[in-house]
Amino acid sequence: MGAAIRAISGAPHAAVLGVGSYRPSLIVSNADLVDAIDSSDEWIQQRSGIKQRRFATPEETVQLMSVAASREALQRSGITAEQIDCVIVATVSHLLQTPAIATAIAYELGTQQAAAFDISAACAGFCHGIALAADMVRGGSAHHVLVIGVERLSDITDLNDRGTAFIFADGAGAAVVGPSETPAIGPVVWGSDGEQFDLIRQREDWRNVVGTSDEPGSGVMPHLTMQGNSVFRWASFAMAKIATQALDRAGVSLDELDVFVPHQANMRIIDAMARSMKLPAHVRIARDIAEQGNTSAASIPLALDRMMVEGDAKPGDTALLVAFGAGLAYAAQVITVP
Ligand code: UT7
Repeated sequence: MGAAIRAISGAPHAAVLGVGSYRPSLIVSNADLVDAIDSSDEWIQQRSGIKQRRFATPEETVQLMSVAASREALQRSGITAEQIDCVIVATVSHLLQTPAIATAIAYELGTQQAAAFDISAACAGFCHGIALAADMVRGGSAHHVLVIGVERLSDITDLNDRGTAFIFADGAGAAVVGPSETPAIGPVVWGSDGEQFDLIRQREDWRNVVGTSDEPGSGVMPHLTMQGNSVFRWASFAMAKIATQALDRAGVSLDELDVFVPHQANMRIIDAMARSMKLPAHVRIARDIAEQGNTSAASIPLALDRMMVEGDAKPGDTALLVAFGAGLAYAAQVITVP
């Protein structure tokens, strides 16, 4: 028989202690994009609710945006970088296969060699990260976890593709998860539907970029491709059910809910989910997509941050997060607003 291995446990409960964001500097209007895709400002606004989005400049790298959002989240949490034991970065647009960008971010922030890794769950990545972080804090593998959702989707979006050019955008959001005396992050409801693997995907794998010529950068970037309408129908109905399950598992009723922060994929999906869930009128709904576009893993922390800054989400409020995207992967949980 092997040696008895000591069992450990962590804090009784976990909470989001603070949130931060970084919105890149380049504001891109619908008018800036429509000529290349034979579209119009009116069509884009009517079909998606997007009025404008932000694109990162070359200087606004995944690392720069992540560090800026994280510093804000740390400062608002009253936690120092040295107190962070683990950095989880949710992204699909850090364009090195290895190493994870999380290690560079952990180093630049000044953590004490925190564990650091990236996760790939597309638009659902931030909610996956919050679920992992809460379990780490309760399980004893970390005291404080920094969860970052960051994207530079403009790098992997084909601006000549009618189905995606006007949707995707760039940005970063971050949250510090740490110990709590009371439950402040509810049980996650998550899953995947790999039968729909092809609905949103990188068109081809990276061999296409490197294989065509000896000239660096001469290959064709494998852009994102999306069967928008199929995703739209799936998200509008199936994700409302997942959101409702997350409320049920947290033991929170619709009357007790203050804030709804769905993935900012399309304003019509947000409205369809709210209708399908029968959200009461008092629940404030995140609508960051109008100004920010769809920033995949960054969309929920960016949207939550805007609501907190503008006073629509107050400390102690109960918020429902639900995220979904490529995979298809999804995750939802209830949190207490820090
Ligand atoms: O973040 C990850 C998860 N992603 C999502 O949740 C995105 C979900 N999907 C969507 O948001 C929507 O499907 C889109 C906004 C992408 C598209 O809206 P839609 O209502 O599903 O449009 P559609 O693809 O069904 O196309 C409707 C019509 C078609 O014309 P006809 O056949 O009705 O004459 C298209 O040819 O709109 C036309 N169309 C466009 N017209 C102007 C398609 N794209 C465009 C365009 N500009 N960019």
